[in-house]
Amino acid sequence: MTLNWPQSYPGVHWYDQQEDQAVLDVLHPKAPFRYYGMSQPKYVEAFEETAKKLYGVRYALAINSGTGALITAMNALGIGPGCEVIVPTFMWVATIGAVVHANAIPVLCEVDESFNLDPKDLKRKITPRTRLIIAVHMTGAPCDMKAIMAIANRRGIPVLEDCAQCNGGAYKGKMIGSFGRISIFSLQINKNCTAGEGGLLVTNDQDLYYRLNAAHDVGVPWVDGGTRPDLGYVTWGNGRRMSELIGAVGSVQLQKLPKIVKHMRASKQRIKAKLKGIAGLSFRKIHDQKGDTGCFLTLILKNARTAAAVIDRLRAFGLPACRMAEYGMHVYYHIPQLVHKTPLSPAGNPWKLPQNAKSVYSYAKGACPKSDALFERSILISIPSCLTRAQENAATKAIKAAMAEQG
Ligand SMILES: Cc1ncc(COP(=O)(O)O)c(C=O)c1O
Repeated sequence: MTLNWPQSYPGVHWYDQQEDQAVLDVLHPKAPFRYYGMSQPKYVEAFEETAKKLYGVRYALAINSGTGALITAMNALGIGPGCEVIVPTFMWVATIGAVVHANAIPVLCEVDESFNLDPKDLKRKITPRTRLIIAVHMTGAPCDMKAIMAIANRRGIPVLEDCAQCNGGAYKGKMIGSFGRISIFSLQINKNCTAGEGGLLVTNDQDLYYRLNAAHDVGVPWVDGGTRPDLGYVTWGNGRRMSELIGAVGSVQLQKLPKIVKHMRASKQRIKAKLKGIAGLSFRKIHDQKGDTGCFLTLILKNARTAAAVIDRLRAFGLPACRMAEYGMHVYYHIPQLVHKTPLSPAGNPWKLPQNAKSVYSYAKGACPKSDALFERSILISIPSCLTRAQENAATKAIKAAMAEQG
């Protein structure tokens, strides 16, 4: 059996003449900058308008990347020295990097079998210095937003949703990205909707929107065709505007997102249905099946040894699979700059700042044993957005065969 598994770049499989046309529609009128040009630019604004409708939020701000969105969100939320920010053990380095860039201290929270924030550990990790909780909807499926929001709201701590890996997902009938004080998305090539690079910030709070707007640009909000220092949001900007070329591709892709997600979700559900009842095999807990974007299938095995053996067999069959424990800088102990608390400057910030003296944490393997054990015995398989029934069936056969060989 040799499978011809497609590469897992969900958005790009859906590129067609619509994206081509939109790009030319920026180049030909010579309008590549979002705020003005040789003719009236329109695509970044269209991208933001589509986003507001899709996620059901009042404000949307296009930006140059998901990392840029996270850093800008920290600026707008006033995160700085003396603040602790709770982050899950399973994320992407950029999620924690944004906290460090703000000179705040990241605090690791365990994930549970949903591979998202464990609400029980979240309660334990809150201290008088906690100023933000980052809920990262990892590998396509939503966090337990009911539990997380209840914990955060009871203590008056804002939640930031990192939706980079779950664009188009939902939780109990509401789009993810519409729960947190601010939410971020990415349009990088691995994402469900992509322009190669790009990002998005959404919020329902006008005050925060102006802060984000000012911080992502020149430090002064751009409102109705001009900078408005009089509005009272002047800060230091970090030059992260989205270009019209990205806006053109992004706005076409965002309109296609529901179809892309529907395709992946259906493929995943068909594969999962055929794998039901296999001894020794369980799946990641999904908090809302209907809100799962379906871009990954996670298998949980009995132990690390079985997981390694199953991966070897799957790879031999041509099905790319990865042990969670080896999933690069998505796993806290694989982030060298975190484990070694690499400072941002010779001043030793953020870890050596006097304001952070009470926030002493380890980030080395072993800091979060529940996550460590789960990562060791779990396997990640991508579900491309263009699978045929024949490819789905071949993958199912490969997984069944690999499991059968384990006895
Ligand atoms: C969970 C998560 N957050 C943030 C990012 C950063 O997005 P970008 O690559 O657009 O900077 C990514 C993307 O890689 C991600 O997976």
